[in-house]
Amino acid sequence: MTVPDRTQVGIIGGGPAGLLLSHLLARDGIDSVVLESRDRAYVEARQRAGVIEVGTAELLRDVGLGTRMDRDGLVHGGIYVQFAGERHHLDFVDLTDGGTVTVWAQTEIVKDLVAARLADGGGLKFEAEAVAVEDLTTDRPVVRYRDAAGTEHELRCDVIAGCDGFHGVCRPAIPSLAVVDHAYPYAWLGILADVAPSTDELIYAHHTRGFALHSLRSPEVSRLYLQVAPDENLDDWPDDRIWSELATRLGVAGWTLHTGPIRDRGITPMRSFVGAPMRHGRLFLAGDAAHIVPPTGAKGLNLAMADAAVLADALRALLVDRDGRLAESYSDRCLRRVWRATHFSWWMTSMLHRPMQADAFDEALQLSQLRYVTSSRAAATSLAENYVGFTMRTA
Ligand code: FAD
Ligand code: DHB
Repeated sequence: MTVPDRTQVGIIGGGPAGLLLSHLLARDGIDSVVLESRDRAYVEARQRAGVIEVGTAELLRDVGLGTRMDRDGLVHGGIYVQFAGERHHLDFVDLTDGGTVTVWAQTEIVKDLVAARLADGGGLKFEAEAVAVEDLTTDRPVVRYRDAAGTEHELRCDVIAGCDGFHGVCRPAIPSLAVVDHAYPYAWLGILADVAPSTDELIYAHHTRGFALHSLRSPEVSRLYLQVAPDENLDDWPDDRIWSELATRLGVAGWTLHTGPIRDRGITPMRSFVGAPMRHGRLFLAGDAAHIVPPTGAKGLNLAMADAAVLADALRALLVDRDGRLAESYSDRCLRRVWRATHFSWWMTSMLHRPMQADAFDEALQLSQLRYVTSSRAAATSLAENYVGFTMRTA
C-alpha cells in the first residue's frame, strides 16, 4: 500500500544542508518535510567536518542556532603551516581585517538543527529512505520513500530539494547533468582522541613522509589526520603506529605531541566532483549531492550550508512571491562559490601532500610555494581570505 502525503518542499537528506534548509524555510513560513534514511543517533554521531567559516558562523547566529556555538565553539584567528622542520603562523585576523574561523563540529551543528526542527514541530522523518523522484518538470513533483516498517509513501510537493549527499538518488535524476570529476591519489586517515590538543591553532604539515593535520574539537578532544594511500587498510594502523607517524610528521624541535585513547577512526578518499546544473525543473540539488571537495581547507560543510542559504532565498521568492528569478539563477550563484572552493581545496591539497611518485621537481615546487605563502603578505592574504571564506549570500 502507498500512503500519500503532501508538503511545500520535500527535502531528501537530513545532513547539514537539508536540516538547515528546512530550518530557514520554516522561518519564512514555508512547510517542509525532511526524509533521512538513517536513524537520529547515527546522524548526530557521524564524525566529519570541524571548522566553519566566519560567514557560516554568522548565519547560524542569525537563525537562532548560535547559543551553544558561541559558548563552546573555539574561535581561531589563524593556522600554522609547517614544512622543512619549520612551523610558521599565519595570522588571519591581521591578514583579512578581522577574519576568523570557528572550531565547531558538524555533529554539534546537526544536533542543534535536529533539536530545532523537532521543537518547531517541523516534519523530520528518520529511517525514511527516498527511492525515486518523479514529475520534476511539473509544479507537483513527487518523492517516493519507504519507512522503517517497509511501507511505501508518496510525498507530493511544490519543490524537491536533493540534499541527499554524494550517494543519493537526486543527482542521477537530472538528465542534462554534466560532471567534472577528479580523483586524487591520496586518502586521509582521521582519528578523534580523548587528549588535550598539543597546539593552540591547527597545524597543516608538509613532510617527506606525507601530509599531517592537527585539528581539535574542544579543550579535551583532538582531531588528527594523516595522508595515506587510497587503498590503505585501517587494520594496518594500530594506535602506536598512528601516534608515532603523527609525531614524526608534525614534529618540530622543542614540541611534543600528547597522545590519548582513540575514540573514532576512519579513512576518507579524496576527490573533486562538480555536477551542473544544480537544478532540473522543480528539483534543486544542495551540498554533497552536487559537489565534493577534498578536505584540505575545510570547505565541504561550508559549501553545503551556503547552498542551503541561497536555496532558501530562491524558494521564498518562488513559493511566496511567485517570482522565479532567483530559482533560475540558483545553480549559477552556487557554482561560483563551489568552483572557488574547488580551486582552493585543490591548491591546498597539491601544496601539502606528497605525490605517490614524488620527484625532486615536485618537492622543490611545493617547498617554494610554502615559503612564498609564509613570507609574502600578498600570498598569505590569498590563503587567509579563501580559508576564512566569503560572505554567505553574495559569493
Ligand atoms: P551529508 O552530510 O552527506 O548528508 C546527506 C544525508 O542524506 C545523509 O544524512 C544521508 O544519510 C542522507 N541520505 C542519502 N541518501 C538518502 C536517501 N535516498 N533518502 C533519504 N536520505 C538519504 N568536510 C570538511 O569541511 N572537513 C572535513 O574534515 C570533512 N570530513 C569528512 C569526512 C567524511 C567521511 C565525509 C563523507 C565527508 C567529510 N567532509 C568534510 C565533508 C562534509 O562533511 C560534507 O561536505 C557535508 O556533510 C555535506 O553536507 P550535506 O548535508 O550536503 O550531505
Ligand atoms: C578539519 C578538517 C579539515 O579538512 C581541515 O582542513 C581542518 C580541520 C577537522 O576535521 O577539524
